[in-house]
Amino acid sequence: MWKRKDLLGIKELSADEINQILDQAVPMKDIIKRDIKKVPTLRGKSVINLFYEPSTRTRTSFELAGKYLSADTVNIAVSTSSVVKGETLIDTGKTIDVMGADVVVIRHQASGAPHLLAKHIKAKVINAGDGAHEHPTQALLDLFTIKEAKGSIEGLTVTILGDILHSRVARSNIWGLKKLGAKVRVAGPSTLMPPGLGDWGVEVYHRVEDALEGADVVNVLRLQLERQQKGLFPTIREYARQWGLNSRRVSLAKPGAMVLHPGPMNRGVEISPEVADGLQSVITEQVTNGVAVRMAILYLMTGGGVSDVPR
Ligand code: CP
Repeated sequence: MWKRKDLLGIKELSADEINQILDQAVPMKDIIKRDIKKVPTLRGKSVINLFYEPSTRTRTSFELAGKYLSADTVNIAVSTSSVVKGETLIDTGKTIDVMGADVVVIRHQASGAPHLLAKHIKAKVINAGDGAHEHPTQALLDLFTIKEAKGSIEGLTVTILGDILHSRVARSNIWGLKKLGAKVRVAGPSTLMPPGLGDWGVEVYHRVEDALEGADVVNVLRLQLERQQKGLFPTIREYARQWGLNSRRVSLAKPGAMVLHPGPMNRGVEISPEVADGLQSVITEQVTNGVAVRMAILYLMTGGGVSDVPR
């Protein structure tokens, strides 16, 4: 049985907990392939999406995940909520809580906002991305996508490429991949590498070609244009030329290497269109898997167990 009240980050999860979610996502993916994508498992449960930052994939997939499991799902549009009148995060959270929410899915620009909310409300809290800290459900869907294709994560070489400094996806992926036994390489401009990266147990590369040589998986990060301070790299064109993943660079990885991107993509910047849409890309599969993994998370967190798999 799942023991945690909240899902706030990958760093605190054990390999067993990660595998429990990945295993539970397998039957969930079967459900979303059906004509009638609906099981009664979470009837009577409510899931509230509280997003302080824009999202297409995460918010929609949590909404669909809840609906496919028959939960009541509600999206709070922060821009038309009482947040604009100055209501605090804790007051907003407590308001949702006393309405009977079972799960609050929160995305916030501040690192630690989901942790603060979780301390103040009875509802279970899922971190859908907090600042540059963690994006645990993205990492879980990435791990699921890799495991589905390769059979296992253990022993794989995974290159994470791009804007590591601002990327919560990179952090969550690094913790998850290492817990499941992958060798993790990171590469990007030195100005977009966080200080102390060497202590994270990853191999740091300063040339994209070296980082890609022999990799099983390449996870390309979005260049987070909204979080850039001036002067971290000369121009976007320069970034694309030096660090963008193109067909020539992909060919340095192992034959059949997978290419992932969390989306949304800056096509022609961190990834070329021919790679994004090419045979090695699993970007659309990641999106589908995001629904299955979020169904598994909602199911486990609201009382399901692996022996009670909905069919
Ligand atoms: N990958 C991801 O978090 O995408 P969205 O911002 O569209 O949710």
